[in-house]
Amino acid sequence: MGDVLRLDGETSTLVIDARGPGIPRECYWGGALPVAADLGALADSQARPWYPSALDDDVPTSLLPETGLGDFGHPGLSGVRGRRHWATAFRLQGVDRLDDTLTFRLDEPAAGLSLEIEITLDPATDVQSRRCRLRNVGDTPYRLDWCAAGVFRLPPFVTEALTFEGRWTGEFQERRVGLGIGGFLRDNRRGRTSHDAFPGLIAGPAGFSEESGRVFGFHLGWSGNHRLLAELLPNGDRRVLLGELPMPGEIDLAPGDTYETPRVHAATAPDGMNGLSDRLHRFVRDRILRWPGGAMTPRPVIFNSWEAVYFDHDLERLKSLADAAAAIGAERFVLDDGWFGARDDDTTSLGDWTEHPGKWPGGIGPLIDHVRSLGMEFGLWVEPEMVNPDSALYRAHPDWALNVDPLPRPTIRSQLVLDLSRAEVADHVFSMLDGLLARYPIAYLKWDMNRDLATAGSDGIPAYGAQTRAVWALLDRLRGRHPHVEIESCASGGGRADYGVLERTHRIWASDSNDPLERQTIQHGFSRFFPACVMGAHLGPSPAHTSGRRCSAAFRGLAALFGHFGLELDLLALDAAERRDVAAVVALYKRFRALLHEGRRWHLDRLEPGRIGYGAVAADGAEALFCLVQMASPPFTVAPPVLLPGLADRGDYRVAILAPQPAGAYGDTDLDIVLPGAVLTRVGLQLPTQAPETTLLLHVSRQGSRS
Ligand code: GLA
Repeated sequence: MGDVLRLDGETSTLVIDARGPGIPRECYWGGALPVAADLGALADSQARPWYPSALDDDVPTSLLPETGLGDFGHPGLSGVRGRRHWATAFRLQGVDRLDDTLTFRLDEPAAGLSLEIEITLDPATDVQSRRCRLRNVGDTPYRLDWCAAGVFRLPPFVTEALTFEGRWTGEFQERRVGLGIGGFLRDNRRGRTSHDAFPGLIAGPAGFSEESGRVFGFHLGWSGNHRLLAELLPNGDRRVLLGELPMPGEIDLAPGDTYETPRVHAATAPDGMNGLSDRLHRFVRDRILRWPGGAMTPRPVIFNSWEAVYFDHDLERLKSLADAAAAIGAERFVLDDGWFGARDDDTTSLGDWTEHPGKWPGGIGPLIDHVRSLGMEFGLWVEPEMVNPDSALYRAHPDWALNVDPLPRPTIRSQLVLDLSRAEVADHVFSMLDGLLARYPIAYLKWDMNRDLATAGSDGIPAYGAQTRAVWALLDRLRGRHPHVEIESCASGGGRADYGVLERTHRIWASDSNDPLERQTIQHGFSRFFPACVMGAHLGPSPAHTSGRRCSAAFRGLAALFGHFGLELDLLALDAAERRDVAAVVALYKRFRALLHEGRRWHLDRLEPGRIGYGAVAADGAEALFCLVQMASPPFTVAPPVLLPGLADRGDYRVAILAPQPAGAYGDTDLDIVLPGAVLTRVGLQLPTQAPETTLLLHVSRQGSRS
């Protein structure tokens, strides 16, 4: 106590004034400060002048703003004991420092509460993680309405934010908003991370871009309801609050109970969103993901049966598909929905996880054996949290579904959600999954979750948070028992994409849209926060099943190249030319997957409207792949030169267009040129004009190093 404290990363410093007597406050977060900086003087220099009609004692934004002190913005904490203690004034009791973590201990004796605020700054990646723990030390229940996981101050030059919204087959759509009085609020009450309100935001000065502006990024690692608020107060304070959003009465702390928030993660970069994403990606790879065996292995080419056969399972046909998949280069065969119960469509059998007797009279063992004999791993689709009213499980245990009886039980996709906060239900689901994994050599689960939690009561009590924590616990338990199994997080596409679920899984199905054009914007937004190695992306059918758009196999394949690549189409229906193009993309992916998954991701800046560009540059700068996608007709007859970022200034690079050639490009598409990195980065390269819905894939290799 009594100190101004700092946490340092490679490129950033966070300074917190913990001189008391109340909740500490952040007085600086930005580029690294000198080791010798006088922090006390820094904190004092931030004291704000008095102004008329204001509180006589200024209340700057603290790590958890309190109504009790006269903070007029959105509180960091709100709750009541009876009808009292809705306003608090916590006192700092002490600070613990353990490696890169500061924990502030506070109490509020009158309200009967104690509080811990924990802040970690990962020195290697500069990503902060924060969370709070609130304990009821009184002797009556305390009803907690909201406790932010973290509240961050933004500097005054931050006036804009990039936000993320969407829908099914249209996740992660970016929208810029100005930060004015009233701020920007996104509440999510869908009970899962959601398609439409991704819990993340990037803020910066006006016009911040891929490569410019001191930017700040925030993400709540939570797979349930949340509130995200970027607020500008009349006194000029700018702040971002993120946390779990409880329903009324959801968090009722009995005497002695503690509520722990999810973790919120945040980073800042001086060089625009590319710098920010680089920090977040490294953080995910180093601190979030937990791979079987301790390290990521090359991400296998997946074949997924869904858009190839849907519910139409036939052993011989699936074996032929497996043959075709293996022949074209697939390394993991995933049997999707339709293998269990009486599941001939999506109205029945969730909960009855034994093989469909009509389609699988001998079980799925023979298919698994066949797949493995071809040298591929086997993966299986499950949706363990769900139950169809038309199922043996539901008929036996109608009380196992989340409900607010006697209100109606709304169904989505004809299904209800199992109440996993009940131990016997969670045990049942665990035994089912454990049994499957024990019975069969399954390397991978596609763990799906195809509905929002409307309306989630457990015995009538709101159970959104409890359900979210129970799903995480189930995943943890399963991984503890079967540590070699990889798991994909799917929720009708990208409905459950967050760092919380990613601590327990290895891949996120970014969207149910395999439309290569729509995928570009989805993946662009997704890639702000998630690295390519976890982004499930498939070469799908033409016409695309969710949009009807027809595109070439090359365009579809290249749209999936910069993720964890897979195939999801009827390989038996391809003609020879398509098969050649699909095989070419598979080969490209295998050749470059180390670069794509371990290299640094760049989004290209200053492209003309209608073009999207991104790339992966190896850590040593020796090699890169860049992808330019023409989304719509260009505004000019000749596009401006394209700047290729991330290359070493010194050293000559050879740039070549890789096969498959972009069908539909105008003019000469041959390019084989050698230029210094500085020229490619600053002057740029004049590229062929592209027709809409074509991709240019550039390979850049430093001369004298590997190519
Ligand atoms: C969801 C998934 C799809 C597929 C279907 C199966 O929609 O997102 O990829 O697995 O369920 O029913």
